[in-house]
Amino acid sequence: MDGTVIVLGGLNFDLVIRGSRIPGKGESVFGKSFHTFPGGKGANQAVQLARLGVQTCMLGRVGNDIYGDQLVASLEENGVITDALMRDPELGTGKGWVFVDDDGDNYIIVLPEANMNWAKRDLEALGQLLKGAACLLCQLETPVTIVEACLRAAKDAGLLTVLNTAPATSLPADLFNHVDLLILNQTEAAFYVGRSVGGADQARTAAEALLARGCGAVVITLGDQGAVAADGSGACHCHAFSVRAVDVTAAGDSFCAALAYALLQGDELCGALQFACASGALTVTREGAQPSLPKLAEIRAFIESGRARHVR
Ligand code: RIB
Repeated sequence: MDGTVIVLGGLNFDLVIRGSRIPGKGESVFGKSFHTFPGGKGANQAVQLARLGVQTCMLGRVGNDIYGDQLVASLEENGVITDALMRDPELGTGKGWVFVDDDGDNYIIVLPEANMNWAKRDLEALGQLLKGAACLLCQLETPVTIVEACLRAAKDAGLLTVLNTAPATSLPADLFNHVDLLILNQTEAAFYVGRSVGGADQARTAAEALLARGCGAVVITLGDQGAVAADGSGACHCHAFSVRAVDVTAAGDSFCAALAYALLQGDELCGALQFACASGALTVTREGAQPSLPKLAEIRAFIESGRARHVR
């Protein structure tokens, strides 16, 4: 594959408690285990790309602390280029408090810290970074102004621009014009279109409404109902792979990175969707954020195992 993928995004030190269920308001429950994992949506997506064999460069900010050291080490162990990572002199490294229940579902509170402490001068080297790159992949754990500036510059430089709107945040209307591929889950899609997105039919309608805002293609993930994709030429639905859920953390990140990878390989949007669903499904079967992200050979073997279901 020619060209690097630049991932602009958040890096978090995840503190993960597993319990049989999540407590209600005012309630205390006993947990079963506690672990820490390298996480953050941007860093997870960068690691997933690197595990697929893509040259990947992470653009982000961590604090000058032991948590930042561990997150940088995880990226480097996975082969992600960290030259464009910045150490924040004032704020600490971002943290994610992750609660996982017996169904593998999660509930996350993120303290962004350095992830949100950007200044315009932090983008001075952006032009150089984009030279020779193939794709910019962003989420919304960094300031919207920075995301917008990077998307605009990357689009002008001819890169494939991908925005994963996680967590959902108000966006300027013009931003969608700089996005070739928009990836959302159904909660985020509901936030942007102003109505619930419960299944594939509603997702298609929502995707068409989002296409009309100016992006090139829209993908909406639907958890155990798979994912829907739409672009100017039509729409398709990929059913979910059937797996036993251990921990859904980073499944969406795995999906986004795998989708970008498959498109850069030249796959059609609907074919790329199946590959991304497989990558996300494998991630769900393992604990933690970055440790759960699959390698290319694992995804191929999983698809070939016949557990893939058709795209229509
Ligand atoms: O998408 C999963 C990630 O969301 C976690 O790693 C956590 O840090 C939050 O950013």
